[in-house]
Amino acid sequence: MSQEKLRFFTLSFLLILSPALCRFVVEKNNLKITSPDSIKGIYECAIGNFGVPQYGGTLVGTVAYPKSNQKACKSYNDFDISFKSKPGGLPTFVLIDRGDCFFTLKAWIAQQAGAAAILVADNKAEPLITMDTPEEDKSDADYLQNITIPSALITKSLGDSIKSALSGGDMVNMKLDWTESVPHPDERVEYELWTNSNDQCGKKCDTQIEFLKNFKGAAQILEKGGHTQFTPHYITWYCPEAFTLSKQCKSQCINHGRYCAPDPEQDFTKGYDGKDVVVQNLRQACVYRVMNETGKPWVWWDYVTDFAIRCPMKDKKYTKECADEIIKSLDIDLKKVDKCIGDPDADVENPVLKAEQESQIGKGARGDVTILPTLVVNNRQYRGKLEKGAVLKAMCSGFEESTEPAICLTEDLNTNECLENNGGCWQDKAANITACRDTFRGRLCECPTVQGVKFSGDGYTHCKGISVLSPCRQLDIFCVGTGCKIMAYPLALLFYSTSILL
Ligand SMILES: *[C@@H]1O[C@H](CO)[C@@H](O)[C@H](O)[C@H]1NC(C)=O
Ligand SMILES: *[C@@H]1O[C@H](CO)[C@@H](O)[C@H](O)[C@H]1NC(C)=O
Ligand SMILES: *[C@@H]1O[C@H](CO)[C@@H](O)[C@H](O)[C@H]1NC(C)=O
Repeated sequence: MSQEKLRFFTLSFLLILSPALCRFVVEKNNLKITSPDSIKGIYECAIGNFGVPQYGGTLVGTVAYPKSNQKACKSYNDFDISFKSKPGGLPTFVLIDRGDCFFTLKAWIAQQAGAAAILVADNKAEPLITMDTPEEDKSDADYLQNITIPSALITKSLGDSIKSALSGGDMVNMKLDWTESVPHPDERVEYELWTNSNDQCGKKCDTQIEFLKNFKGAAQILEKGGHTQFTPHYITWYCPEAFTLSKQCKSQCINHGRYCAPDPEQDFTKGYDGKDVVVQNLRQACVYRVMNETGKPWVWWDYVTDFAIRCPMKDKKYTKECADEIIKSLDIDLKKVDKCIGDPDADVENPVLKAEQESQIGKGARGDVTILPTLVVNNRQYRGKLEKGAVLKAMCSGFEESTEPAICLTEDLNTNECLENNGGCWQDKAANITACRDTFRGRLCECPTVQGVKFSGDGYTHCKGISVLSPCRQLDIFCVGTGCKIMAYPLALLFYSTSILL
């Protein structure tokens, strides 16, 4: 069979394996138009699956729809257009028409021209869709990881309204709001990574492995601290009964067609087969189960990253022997793992993979998982690039406010808004005390505790020191009148309403 034909055959075969019923959930955030009055209101938009959505935060900006390059498939440089905002100006959201090139290319081109976000207007009336990264593994897709601005798809009708407001001379201002994109009900975040041990699928596999390596430290700190409950998941398909004895099912499936994965190279004649991938996925799931039982689920991260480094397909080390060495080196009970895997050739069900197939079907708001890799945070599918900072932002937005662990408050996640105008929060300049605290959510205005004295108040206009043990003694300087009430800074409120990330 020629390469061309073989590929076609593999693809059509995969279609049979795909789950027939698919309920894909489009993850959304809010878009609030604040002016002009004619289109004021709250609208829904769909979060693009690339770039960095500001999970937990908001972004205020003004919309531009340039007269040329409206699909943003060419560099704006060629048209002498720039969206860099001037000092004191609002960030620019560029409105771009759908069509002619990848969504990711539009985002990259707009970002290079200084845009703070892109709004892609759909070109037909239809429900919102999720904009994804292209599947093709082109080497010039180098820019994908460099997209840092958020992107949103809006309906055709909203796009038309914005265009007509702009052409009528109105300034269109809006706020993109991701504060409710991840539910944040309590002090623990439950999250899942739908992943795969296959390391030969081009850019997507490389990105996934890089992510596992980079995120491992944070994941382990969060899990050890009891802040998160993480579960890895693996997608498998089943082979329709009529085909279980076919060559294709035998090479792609284990346990008599019950659990299958596509051939890594999409070529049945060379390299590893789909069934090798299924077995390695099962081994990873079993490592998780075994370690979860002993109360150390985070060892999974060590195992999968070690496996990716030490047992790659390209070195022909994607084997049980190589995996077992890592299992032993990490002091994981090999016998228990082997028992969990069972006999892949037997005509029996595997309880772990059976449970995985069942959890693949959407529950509640989550929807079916169909994109690999997929991260699910508090039962919502994460959209955006799979990169440590972006993911941590989404996870951190899943904690009930002010219960987020320290890692959520580290520098690279901070917004540093307190540096400017004290973030619009209360402060006592003379005593160098502030209510402003930078967090990944944007800044929080919370009355502080200073030298054992807890301040209380709204955090914006006033904070008052209350201390049972040493009333005002150490803090004479801040005390006015009887209590420790401190003067408000009413000007601060002005900055509050124009802050970029509230
Ligand atoms: C993307 O970023 C990396 C690292 O900063 C840089 O080396 C690379 O040239 C960038 N790619 C493009 C297309 O700008
Ligand atoms: C992992 O352990 C926790 C706590 O014992 C348990 O609630 C959870 O269901 C376990 N997860 C799996 C997939 O076994
Ligand atoms: C105010 O306090 C902060 C943090 O406690 C410190 O970094 C800063 O240097 C202090 N500024 C002054 C003027 O004392």
